[in-house]
Amino acid sequence: MSGRDGFIARLFRSWIPRTPRESSEAVVRNIWLHAFPARITKRSLSWLASGWLGTASLHLFIVLCLTGGVLMFLYVPSVERAYESVKDIEFVVSFGAWIRGTHRVAAHLMVVAVVLHLVRVFLTGAYKKEGAPGAHRPLNWCVGLALLVLTFGLSFTGYLLPWDQLAYWAVTVGTQIAAAAPLVGEQLRDLLLGGTVVGQPTLLRFYVLHCFVLPALTIFLVAWHMWRIRKDGGLAVADRVAEDAREQAAITPPPPGKTYTLMGTTPGGTVQASSSAGLIEQASTPSVPAVPRRTMAVFLAVLALCSVLGLLLHAPLEEPANPAVTPNPAKAPWYFLWLQELVSILTFRIGSFVVDGTLVGGILLPGVLIGALGAWPYIDKSPASAAGVWFHPSRKVQNRVFLLLLFACVVLTIIGMYFRGPYWAWTWPWGEHASHPTLT
Ligand code: HEM
Repeated sequence: MSGRDGFIARLFRSWIPRTPRESSEAVVRNIWLHAFPARITKRSLSWLASGWLGTASLHLFIVLCLTGGVLMFLYVPSVERAYESVKDIEFVVSFGAWIRGTHRVAAHLMVVAVVLHLVRVFLTGAYKKEGAPGAHRPLNWCVGLALLVLTFGLSFTGYLLPWDQLAYWAVTVGTQIAAAAPLVGEQLRDLLLGGTVVGQPTLLRFYVLHCFVLPALTIFLVAWHMWRIRKDGGLAVADRVAEDAREQAAITPPPPGKTYTLMGTTPGGTVQASSSAGLIEQASTPSVPAVPRRTMAVFLAVLALCSVLGLLLHAPLEEPANPAVTPNPAKAPWYFLWLQELVSILTFRIGSFVVDGTLVGGILLPGVLIGALGAWPYIDKSPASAAGVWFHPSRKVQNRVFLLLLFACVVLTIIGMYFRGPYWAWTWPWGEHASHPTLT
């Protein structure tokens, strides 16, 4: 075959393998498929096992990188030009408003997807140490927690960039909470802001963090997270498949005292023994094309959702940032509103003495929460068989406490969004002083 024929043939060649052997070869030969194992259990593939929420989080991050890459050609990180450049993106650049809208929608959805992914992993106990030799899922859970913090960091640093009133005051509120941290709070705030107030050094720092440092760290940690999943023997639900296979093989051993035929030439009976390896084989399927197909389906769904919502939901742009005019109330980004609400609940007056809740509500409680989450895989004493199973009875109490805390965070967020008016006083969403939720 001539080189040209070979090239054309390769262009139109179907990448879909026709035999299990071709599937395994695809994993070895193709760089894009190299991340997948040769075989995967059918239960891991199921939509219900994981909701594919981790994959959706990753794809939202990819959409953010793509749209953010385009925005970087147009955005200018200077207090004189930032607002105008965003206005140009919004009103002058072709498809600018759509790209900006898609970027913002993807940022919000990523926060939601990552939190839901954490909830799924917790409720299925998928952080327990088990699986292949060398498996250590608690480590991957901690890598995941670091990714959660990075996701908040990415969203928060992007918040300031439009340099409008909303951005300026949301970041002011957020960094005021950070400044209440004991010992290092003030230094942390100064390091973030490049001074004591939000200004040009802050914008530049947030820009560098948002566009380079935090995405680079996220890429590194996501790669580590994915690699750990392979090292841990796949998803925790795959361990259940292996255990079921071992149990089934144990209850159907070869009949005792059997004599064996020699290819039918001597008398005796054939053995009907089932091995656990054979049963696992039956319960699994080649990864290619099943996993790339589902991964693509999730990516297309994520891309379509972000593009449509980016078109329909207008990304807000308020008046240019004005340090002299404080909006009342000044609200943190929505995913930090539960913290702002906690701070307000824990700030009260005893006579003329005001107890400031910033330290307890804004730093200590969330710090304890993150610390407890990080330590939980090591504290949780439920049996290994509970890993990878939704709502396993042995995990009833911890699941309930976890869901209760989650519910409290959601309620506090909703109160902060809809029920707080000027001076953080209680307001009904339909009342005179209702402030509109800032989903920005
Ligand atoms: C940027 C954020 C994150 C990305 C891109 C990500 C990605 C993924 C992906 C693709 C999977 C495979 C299963 C699935 O699709 O759901 C996975 C599994 C896992 N993730 Fe994440 N993840 C992130 C954050 C987190 C967080 C916040 C946690 C927990 C604190 C976490 C802990 C885990 C664990 C323990 C597994 C293994 C689950 C199992 O064995 O069933 N991840 N992650």
